[in-house]
Amino acid sequence: MNTLFPFGFSGPTTFYLAVYVLTLVAHVVFMNYVLAGTAVLLVRSLLRRGRGPDAISELLREWLPFGLSAAITAGIAPLLFIQILYKKEFYTANLLLFHRWMLILPALIAGFYLLYALKTSFVGARPRLFALVAAAALGFFLFTALSWTENYLLARSEAAWAPMYASKSVVYRNPEILPRMLLWSVGALPTLAALVGWQLFRKARAGTAVDPADFRAVARLGLFGLVAAGACVAGYGALIGPAARAHATGPMALPWLVVAAVGAAVQGIAWAGLWARGESGRGKWLGLASAGLLLAILGTSCVREVLRITAIDFAALYPEHARAAAVGGRWLFVGFFVINAGLAVWAIRTALAGKRGEAPSEPRGASGS
Ligand code: HEM
Repeated sequence: MNTLFPFGFSGPTTFYLAVYVLTLVAHVVFMNYVLAGTAVLLVRSLLRRGRGPDAISELLREWLPFGLSAAITAGIAPLLFIQILYKKEFYTANLLLFHRWMLILPALIAGFYLLYALKTSFVGARPRLFALVAAAALGFFLFTALSWTENYLLARSEAAWAPMYASKSVVYRNPEILPRMLLWSVGALPTLAALVGWQLFRKARAGTAVDPADFRAVARLGLFGLVAAGACVAGYGALIGPAARAHATGPMALPWLVVAAVGAAVQGIAWAGLWARGESGRGKWLGLASAGLLLAILGTSCVREVLRITAIDFAALYPEHARAAAVGGRWLFVGFFVINAGLAVWAIRTALAGKRGEAPSEPRGASGS
């Protein structure tokens, strides 16, 4: 395994690895919006202390339920491919975590309802209740993230399976879990900054007055998230041990590590530019930040995959990939992907057009200042 990921394997394995990573990137973008968005909404509601809601909080309140449904929908495709790629590992981890694993379903349902509760005027008018509901929603999303992290780490640690089965525990303990969770959570901030930045930009383009301070707040959030995520990557890199570090900097992963680093640097420049010179060229800075963000997410997702491939007996899974490819249905999948993507775009455009048609209501907050 000395070739750049995902090459150097047979056709089916390369294909499944590539589509898995690409679809995971889409999931990560939306799940970052939900995870970081709920946290930012909570923190801003606590800092507000009785003052009216601000433009960023109002946007999050409005769009988080959509963000969650997008994160869940975008999670389906990588979920399908992961079962083809790592059948034994993925199912074993699912079965060992058992009820704990299945708890993500009620957790997500509860989180969904809480996000809708945040949109009601009843909760909106009660700051303490608002903070409580936001904290509970965040708790459910953090639990979901924790469960995916636990499942991922357990699936690649075959040595832990038998002792865990014997212990009848449904909680997997591994010193990597919490630092990894921290990395995911902090790393979600720059994605949130980019998406909220575009939302503010769109509002301004539609003629709504947007406070320049909101763009600067977005840039600060992006910069802070970037620096904090960089520190978490360094800490996590120190934790994973020399063997994993060698794979992360080996021929399969090193170019992707460089891609991620370039993405981070581009984002850094873009966030600094938006913060310092945000009055003009906001679209340019946001475009640059988004390009850097995508490079960073793609690069880290590829390195993440190399670390899994090199931790398990990946060669033993090749026949399974070839068998799955021989079953067919790939083009059917592509066909339905195109149809559904078209329908999703149509539905979003229809909803946005409907909103534009509504009588304009004065936003409650600083957006008009
Ligand atoms: C708000 C809800 C969600 C959050 C916060 C979340 C968070 C995460 C996180 C943090 C990871 C990375 C785990 C790691 O590498 O340590 C992950 C991976 C993943 N998530 Fe989500 N997730 C959510 C919902 C979902 C849903 C509903 C699905 C499926 C429909 C899904 C499918 C996946 C898949 C397939 C992976 C890759 C797992 C792997 O490679 O082992 N996620 N998610």
